[in-house]
This record gives sequence, C-alpha cells and structure tokens, in this order.
Amino acid sequence: MDREEPAVSEADGQLAVVTGAASGIGEAVARRLLAAGARVVAVDINERGLAPLVDAGATALVADLADPDDRARVVAAGRGARYLVNAAGILFVRPIFEVGLDEWKRLWAVNIDSMFFLCQGIGPTMPEGGAIVNLSSSSSKLASTVEVAPYTMTKAAVLGVTRSFAYALAPRRVRVNAICPGSWTRRCRMWSSIRSQPCVGCRSRSCRRPGSGRCPSAGQRRPMSAPGSSGSSCPMRRHT
Ligand SMILES: NC(=O)c1ccc[n+]([C@@H]2O[C@H](COP(=O)([O-])OP(=O)(O)OC[C@H]3O[C@@H](n4cnc5c(N)ncnc54)[C@H](O)[C@@H]3O)[C@@H](O)[C@H]2O)c1
Repeated sequence: MDREEPAVSEADGQLAVVTGAASGIGEAVARRLLAAGARVVAVDINERGLAPLVDAGATALVADLADPDDRARVVAAGRGARYLVNAAGILFVRPIFEVGLDEWKRLWAVNIDSMFFLCQGIGPTMPEGGAIVNLSSSSSKLASTVEVAPYTMTKAAVLGVTRSFAYALAPRRVRVNAICPGSWTRRCRMWSSIRSQPCVGCRSRSCRRPGSGRCPSAGQRRPMSAPGSSGSSCPMRRHT
C-alpha cells in the first residue's frame, strides 16, 4: 500500500533503534524510518541479513539480544534516540508438555529480557516526543494453541512490559505502545520456521502446511492438548 510521505518528516535526522532489523517487520520499519530521514541503528543477530540495510544507509549493530553485554552495547548506541522499535523475536513449535528449560529460557531472553532492558536503558534518555513500539502478537490475547504457547506467553508479557513503561515514561512525554499483528506475511523467517516443521498437533509428517488452511489431518488423531481442550483442528493454522 502506498502512503503519502509528509513534506518534512518528524523523523528527519533523528536517531532510531530498530531490533530484529535483518528481516520481516523490523526490516520494513527500518526502511521506512530511513526513507523518512532517520539515522537508523539496525540491530540483529544476523549480520548478513543486515547488509542490505547498511547499503540503504543504516548503521548495523550485530548483537545477540539475549546476552546482557550485547544489550548494553545496544543501549549505549541508542542513548538519546527518538525512536525505539523492539521487533526482534523468536518462536518454536513444541507441545506444551514437552518444552525444555533451555529453549524456554532462550525464548524469554530474546522476546522479553531484550525488550525490557532496552526500554529500561534507552527510555529515560529519550527526548520529549520520543516513541517506543514493542511487537506483541494477536496470539497474546488468544492462547489458542498448545504448540506455540510459550511464545504466546511472552507476547502477553510484552503487553505488561509496554503498559509499565508507558506509565513510567509518560512524565517525559515519551509514548510506549505495542502492536499485535496477526500472521501478516509468509515471507518472514518466523512464519517460515513454523511452516518448515511438521504439524505436532496431529503428529502427521505429511502435514506441513500449518498456516495455509485447515490441517489435512485434523480430527484424525487427538492433538497434544491440555486436559479438557477439544483440539479438533490444526493448531498451527492459528495466529502467531
Ligand atoms: N510475522 C508475523 O506474522 C508476526 C505476527 C505476530 C507478531 N509478530 C512479531 O513481530 C516481530 C517481528 O516478526 P517478523 O515476522 O518480522 O520475524 P522475523 O523472524 O522475520 O524477524 C525477527 C528478527 O529477529 C532477529 N533475532 C532473533 N533472535 C535474535 C537475537 N537473539 N538477537 C538479535 N536479533 C534476533 C532475527 O534474526 C530476525 O531478523 C516478532 O517479535 C514477532 O513475534 C510477527
């Protein structure tokens, strides 16, 4: 969709930090800010993925946002930024009763620790009129699958983090908001990672189209569900 650019952008010359900038939503936001004249620090663990943004004028900052030292580098680079967009995120597909501690910790470190500590570190340095945008998900309000449940829990936590910092930064007149997208594109890495895994709900190896419609094996075998849930359709076709 084409949108009319304002003649003089509010973002012109302003510092913007965008995480998850090597792909999907983060990359699109970074490009939009660059087009509006912002000085964009593009943060991602994927160095190669950042290269096109560097060509477009961004400064790449390669960082594992689950790592406290790497987060500190991002906070240092983002001091005084007018915009902070927390789009980095990961997801795994695993029945809720089989989730392991390491993957659980990694998920929370990437999806929540990073967001919390970047808001905490950069937020108080932002100028009046600054804005933080955190990426949650429509799934945060649905809790409609048991296979991506830990992901949806982190996305629900995003809403809590967002409300708390919105309250804390209101006196500085810095806005903090969250966005809850549905499954907006099939080209993003996150979506691909779901599609590339077999449907663990129905346990059918042939079911590799979780997002493309009704699970062909739905109803043939009872999904790995929480006690009492019906689990009658493929959980993978739901929101991420
Ligand atoms: N795509 C969707 O349909 C959708 C729907 C709802 C919510 N979201 C949310 O929007 C955000 C962006 O989604 P997307 O589709 O663009 O995802 P994506 O997978 O395309 O991009 C996520 C980016 O985060 C980066 N990343 C992952 N782990 C990192 C780490 N430890 N340190 C630094 N960077 C790391 C990845 O390298 C990748 O470039 C995510 O938080 C996601 O949960 C996306």
